[in-house]
Amino acid sequence: MADWNPQLYNRFRHYRAEPVEHIFSRLALKDHENIVDLGCGPGDNTVELIKRSDDSIVRGIDRSPAMIEAANALRAKQSDDLQRRLSFAVGDMARFEAERKYSIVFSNAALQWLRDQRAVLSNCFRALTFGGQMVMQMPANEHEIGKIELGALAQEHEWRPVLGGIEESFQEVGSPERYALMLTEIGFASVDCYYHTFRHPMERPGDVVEWYRATGLRPFLNVLSANRHDEFLASYRARLERAYGTTGPITFNFRRVFLWGRRPER
Ligand SMILES: C[S@@+](CC[C@H](N)C(=O)[O-])C[C@H]1O[C@@H](n2cnc3c(N)ncnc32)[C@H](O)[C@@H]1O
Repeated sequence: MADWNPQLYNRFRHYRAEPVEHIFSRLALKDHENIVDLGCGPGDNTVELIKRSDDSIVRGIDRSPAMIEAANALRAKQSDDLQRRLSFAVGDMARFEAERKYSIVFSNAALQWLRDQRAVLSNCFRALTFGGQMVMQMPANEHEIGKIELGALAQEHEWRPVLGGIEESFQEVGSPERYALMLTEIGFASVDCYYHTFRHPMERPGDVVEWYRATGLRPFLNVLSANRHDEFLASYRARLERAYGTTGPITFNFRRVFLWGRRPER
């Protein structure tokens, strides 16, 4: 399977940062935190975390070697002090275990790639110190045009033999209510789960193709032979232009689900 492309992923960094800014607006970071960023990608959020909390230690973990390479390149540009307190490692968050180690478990736009989310969230609970906080965010935009059209395209006669089963193989992102129940059952307190929709103006529907080429299109392109990629992407773009009803500027609505919880004090 092709690795992630950090440059393509960061092409819309200003929009991808919006949910993280939302988290920062309410995450009460203190000094001397011990933070883990699960599925840290190219490390931009991990660096923000360390910049916003004095004398804290932050570790980013990601399964993608290309993402960790990009994250380490970003780390190398930081001050000596930040570099000393910041580390990145290739690792699978499905196997994440760290008994009572972290005061904050943070994860942005990564949990949706994992199948057994309850097990991951249980491990996150155990990884927290007493009173420690977990915050996660995932895309929950299955109703948006880009997602609907991608699913419909994969079911077209031409693509179905290769791409027909891909969508079913995705981990379903649950509702806030489902996650609230899950977190409470695991033992989290101060549980708060909710949707928030971000509005991203785009120059053209083709920009949505570029957005998804870095993320949601990867499972489709990974199973399609390289010489069919252009044809598939052109069909997808044509579908989006029809569905949005324009080749010009659009607003790309992106709903996300936020999960907050705290490990109770002892
Ligand atoms: C959409 S990117 C988000 C990156 C970063 N958190 C951000 O907000 O910019 C999803 C990331 O999750 C990582 N990922 C997916 N499955 C993973 C797993 N099982 N363990 C660790 N990282 C994983 C991918 O490699 C990718 O870097």
